[in-house]
Amino acid sequence: MAQSVLLPAGAPFGVDEITALNSVFSTSTAEQRAWLSGFLAGLQAANAPAPAVPAAPPKARAPLTILFGTESGNAEALAARARKAATKLGFAVKLADMADTTPAQMAEVPNLLLIASTWGEGDPPQRAIDFYEALMADGAPRFDKTRFAVLALGDRAYAQYCEIGRRIDERLAALGGNRIVDRIECDLDFEMPAGTWIDATLDQISKEAGETAVADTSVIHVDFARPGAETWTRGRPFEAEITEHVRLTGSRSISDTRHIELSLEGSGIAYEPGDALGVVPRNDPVLVDAVLKATGLDGDAELGLALRDRYDITTLTAKQIEDHAALTGTSRQPLEWASGRQVIDLLETAPGKFTAEQLTGLLRPLPPRYYSIASSREAVGEAAHLLVAGVRYETHGRQRAGVASIDMNGRRKSGERLSVFLRPNPHFRLPADPARPVIMIGPGTGVAPFRGFLQAREATGARGKNWLVFGHRNYLHDFLYQLEWQDWIKDGLLNRLDVAFSRDQPDKRYVQHALWDARNDLQAWVSDGAAIYVCGDASAMAKDVHDTLIQVLGKPALDGLRRDGRYLRDVY
Ligand SMILES: Cc1cc2nc3c(=O)[nH]c(=O)nc-3n(C[C@H](O)[C@H](O)[C@H](O)COP(=O)(O)OP(=O)(O)OC[C@H]3O[C@@H](n4cnc5c(N)ncnc54)[C@H](O)[C@@H]3O)c2cc1C
Ligand SMILES: Cc1cc2nc3c(=O)[nH]c(=O)nc-3n(C[C@H](O)[C@H](O)[C@H](O)COP(=O)(O)O)c2cc1C
Repeated sequence: MAQSVLLPAGAPFGVDEITALNSVFSTSTAEQRAWLSGFLAGLQAANAPAPAVPAAPPKARAPLTILFGTESGNAEALAARARKAATKLGFAVKLADMADTTPAQMAEVPNLLLIASTWGEGDPPQRAIDFYEALMADGAPRFDKTRFAVLALGDRAYAQYCEIGRRIDERLAALGGNRIVDRIECDLDFEMPAGTWIDATLDQISKEAGETAVADTSVIHVDFARPGAETWTRGRPFEAEITEHVRLTGSRSISDTRHIELSLEGSGIAYEPGDALGVVPRNDPVLVDAVLKATGLDGDAELGLALRDRYDITTLTAKQIEDHAALTGTSRQPLEWASGRQVIDLLETAPGKFTAEQLTGLLRPLPPRYYSIASSREAVGEAAHLLVAGVRYETHGRQRAGVASIDMNGRRKSGERLSVFLRPNPHFRLPADPARPVIMIGPGTGVAPFRGFLQAREATGARGKNWLVFGHRNYLHDFLYQLEWQDWIKDGLLNRLDVAFSRDQPDKRYVQHALWDARNDLQAWVSDGAAIYVCGDASAMAKDVHDTLIQVLGKPALDGLRRDGRYLRDVY
């Protein structure tokens, strides 16, 4: 079919001018139009200011696809930064999310840089499940045409360290893909190693492709400030004043959960409900002293401060067990020994004189912790509310305390400052359509983002119905934000509240049981277009709720909801 040569109504001319031009175009030949377009381009170039440097001769740009699989945004942020660096190197870059991509599409690309994190216990990020399963399936496409490199993100504290990146890397090779460079596995302090690896990998692809037009090699460093995260990062956090610090669980509860309000005044941090704050914690000074003592370094005040603020002095990894044995000349503890133990237990197996460098060389950087924001800026202005459950337990005869939760709940007071930065969570948002009903399943601290959701829906007058499913141990002691939910029920904002208190009856009752009991209504809400949100414990709750949702709605329907962005999880 001949292409229309008429100007569209939206062209930047007046109606009369469009009519006049159309009358010329409609009778013009292809040759005349080609001449005209060249003439206009030439005119434009002649009037444009001269370029500061002569343009490089045009060359074909090497195509590069950067594919990421992410849950909490680290892989996505790295992919975005890799794109920036690759664009500067002159690649024709495409950025793709595993959530919207199939292996068949990726098997067609010549150069693939793949960045994937691992979740759960060696599982793919939720939105990457379809991609991952299709890649691992018998019918997966061949990757003979593809040259690839894999960056795996993970956390050495988990047994299945970087498992998904490793499996994808091996699978791509088994399917005929050509590995450009060896896979890199990155721990929580991934910025430096990932940045260096990305630069080196791009350099290698660029050399091998041989056709990349090098546009600007001067700026290829990777900058990790997240889009929307202002300028505050884990390395340069905002010092937020604690303005409110209230224990929500009763004194007879076995959990100590606090509502903490932070002032974000002057930070410019513009969070959305669903986002989390990163908290840069401080280690327990008592544990710092114990570490110094076990290594014969007590009295080194400067090192003490560094251990308090910068090093992970709790998590024990397999690598540390190996490094410690090499350093002390002692025999290596078996891996099972590490279960329930921490760095201090390892150090105490061979107390002796370390140098400060030996000790810090053994330790990981202190990673930040994330907390769902339990408020909406529409309701609280330049502030953010957090809901923090203190982690305390005993293993191997020693009392253990969660680094960040006990720092916040146990040591920090109102008026003090807490180092924070924004961790956007763009995949866990209220529906764009304010009339869409939402079902929010959030036991324990999982309820935090839903307080933010409800504040936002109230402030914006969203008409969609709201259903909250909450659970905890005990009705009397653990009903977090009870009065607020009740007020919202009275006001008609919260249309339904189901609760499950596990210890209030002989048989344990959890949120999945409440969901099962309400299955008919659950089906009806979903038929009416409801979106389902799950937040909180990943190890048991999220799996049990998932299984119950499959029982109630069927697997194909739940998969469909996930693909449509109507089944969203933020689990940890
Ligand atoms: C996106 C996201 C949002 C989050 N939102 C919230 C929130 O709103 N509120 C909240 O309180 N938390 C939230 N968390 C969890 C939070 O980030 C921390 O993981 C949690 O507070 C524990 O951190 P910590 O530094 O106190 O403990 P850590 O020092 O990190 O210690 C925790 C570790 O201790 C060990 N451990 C814990 N209990 C036991 C036990 N009984 N026996 C043996 N070992 C044990 C486990 O290895 C565990 O990983 C969220 C996490 C993520 C990823
Ligand atoms: C609940 C939870 C489970 C995790 N499970 C693993 C795991 O099994 N193996 C691993 O190497 N890392 C694990 N991690 C660490 C993540 O892979 C790591 O934080 C990564 O940087 C996240 O990248 P993302 O933001 O792109 O998803 C887990 C993290 C959380 C919070």
